[in-house]
Amino acid sequence: MSRRTVLVTGAGGPAGVAVIRSLLRREDLVVYAADMDGWASGLYLVPSMRRRILPAGNAPEFVESVIALCDRDEIDVVVSTVDAELPPLAARRAELGAVLAAPSQAALDTALDKWRLVQACAPHVRVPHTELLTEAGQAHDWAFPVIVKPRSGAGSRGVRLVSSRPELEASPPDEAQIIQEHLPGEEFSVDVIVAADGHVVAAVPRLRARVDSGVAVAGRTVHRAELEETAAACARAAGITGVANVQLRYSADGVPALLEINPRFSGAMPLTIAAGVDMPSLAVDVALGREIPRHVPFEEIANVRFLEDLFLPVDEVIVSP
Ligand SMILES: Nc1ncnc2c1ncn2[C@@H]1O[C@H](COP(=O)(O)OP(=O)(O)O)[C@@H](O)[C@H]1O
Ligand SMILES: [Mg+2]
Repeated sequence: MSRRTVLVTGAGGPAGVAVIRSLLRREDLVVYAADMDGWASGLYLVPSMRRRILPAGNAPEFVESVIALCDRDEIDVVVSTVDAELPPLAARRAELGAVLAAPSQAALDTALDKWRLVQACAPHVRVPHTELLTEAGQAHDWAFPVIVKPRSGAGSRGVRLVSSRPELEASPPDEAQIIQEHLPGEEFSVDVIVAADGHVVAAVPRLRARVDSGVAVAGRTVHRAELEETAAACARAAGITGVANVQLRYSADGVPALLEINPRFSGAMPLTIAAGVDMPSLAVDVALGREIPRHVPFEEIANVRFLEDLFLPVDEVIVSP
């Protein structure tokens, strides 16, 4: 069988590095690594002729650059690990000349808007009560504290704990934000892999024991059916295919409730892989239309992480614009 080529973008981030490392273990794949920055560490995990620089995901020429790269390097599958790249790539997936290993545009539109996501998941799982930050939303009979956060956000930016009604009413109405019931319990991150037909192949809950700059630096996987089932139901309700990260948190009444879905590989992917579910590898098989197992089991395992150095000749470092 001839080898298939995979382009992994976001080579400088923890998710990009994890995906590249996973795919490099497969002898049937040729891995290209791309990033907007020549100092991105994951570029240097692949041989020099397979390192590429791309514009930022929000740059107007980004998708054209990916199309040109796929053409020149005869790429079969594109795996993007960058939030900002996913909507523009999904919007033009038919033009890429390669299969995009990412959820459909409709699923991205749902997952990337926490207000729409709550509407989609509410019939299937416990969701925290959520209203838009409007006068009507403020007037709801809230139990304080509540959370106010952007509909589209990441990295906890703009997430506020609002402790009283006067404080809530002092927030100017803004339909780009939501008011949400505060979930006081333990928080879990669940990596999921979904087959092309919507069947959830694995849902691996993780406890983030230590977090540094938004990335879990220590944690453990947890076998708990209610977490696995809730995350799977959320992924199905949002129409996810491929890999996503479902964040859950326990409500005051002790039920795991939906926080958000990140429709991409998490930075803690090495833990999920070590637990037994090699999601990058499975996601590439899904993208290539290959059969994957109906169910992949995982083990309980813990991890701690540290930085690692890779030393290079100075003139090997790519100078990016
Ligand atoms: N309803 C909520 N109840 C309790 N904590 C919340 C709630 N919403 C957000 N948070 C806290 O804020 C963090 C970031 O919120 P999240 O919805 O994951 O947005 P993002 O990660 O996209 O910024 C969560 O991991 C959680 O710790
Ligand atoms: Mg989050």
